[in-house]
Amino acid sequence: MTLRVPSSSSAAPAFPALRLRRPRASNWSRRLHAETVLTPADLIWPVFITEGENVREPIKTMPGVDRLSTDLLLEAAREAVDLGIPALALFPNTPGDRRTEDGREAVNPDNLMCRGSRAIRDAGLDIGILTDVALDPYTDHGHDGLMSPDHRILNDETLEVLAAQAVNQARAGADIVAPSDMMDGRVAAIRTALESEGFRDVQIMSYAAKYASAFYGPFRDAVGSGGRLTGDKKTYQMDPANAKEALREVALDIAEGADSVMVKPGLAYLDIVANVHAAFNVPIFAYQVSGEYAMMRMAMDAGILDAERGMMEVLTAFKRAGCSGVLTYFARDAARLLNG
Ligand code: PBG
Repeated sequence: MTLRVPSSSSAAPAFPALRLRRPRASNWSRRLHAETVLTPADLIWPVFITEGENVREPIKTMPGVDRLSTDLLLEAAREAVDLGIPALALFPNTPGDRRTEDGREAVNPDNLMCRGSRAIRDAGLDIGILTDVALDPYTDHGHDGLMSPDHRILNDETLEVLAAQAVNQARAGADIVAPSDMMDGRVAAIRTALESEGFRDVQIMSYAAKYASAFYGPFRDAVGSGGRLTGDKKTYQMDPANAKEALREVALDIAEGADSVMVKPGLAYLDIVANVHAAFNVPIFAYQVSGEYAMMRMAMDAGILDAERGMMEVLTAFKRAGCSGVLTYFARDAARLLNG
């Protein structure tokens, strides 16, 4: 959206005919004039899954967020339904002995992600299941793709595994597969595989503009990939210095068959959201990532930031910038608040 502000020399009325404070003078009027409205239907709740039964493991670097065993995941899904949250994003903390150089656990029909999806699917809940397509929770080196002996991340070799991973997730009940790996050509590879296996209605939400960010640290603790990571992800995730390149990434993913696109991280990249919104007619989502959540939560817990206002302000900003919805670890808290 390009906003045109009339210049002072135009025919538009000036002070005192124009007093922009008038509509702000009372609560009812502010509500009436709000350009953006946040509802629970705008929220996607990311949840971490772990092995076991009745297991709830706090994540130290993400206060208030726990890894849940699949039975507790199901409880969380029921709660999300009651709160009006339309979708959950699942992330597995794969046991160490199942992580290998080739990440083959990603295509195991009985892996944690698939068991989590099936638990929700079999309960017949009216909720979308979004699954992450990338190899980092399954590789012993913590990278999103296959690695050569000289430590390069291999693009084309990885595509085959990602396509098989997406099909594996669709079989277990995924409604939206969300490739977060940033390999070139992955959306086309996944779309082709889904079509040929008969999954015509499975959506692809591509992490189209995903930046190599310092703000993923707590997430990597949550899925247990951080300590393993050799090097960084700069050869596949985007350079935070680049904005125009994001439009090329988005165009490519739409052309390859993405139903919606994501910008990630969130708050430091609202310009990217706004640019994508201006340039494309496509649903846009932003991921308010783990480091953003941790930063805000710690400030809230320390009494530095007002929890309710801080959370609502930032989530509303995502909508204002042009998002259809937001992946946020605040989803449950925000939905509770919005439901009053
Ligand atoms: C990995 C993936 C990451 C996140 C979602 N999927 C981390 C990474 O790229 O290293 C980050 C989410 C967050 O920080 O909350 N495929």
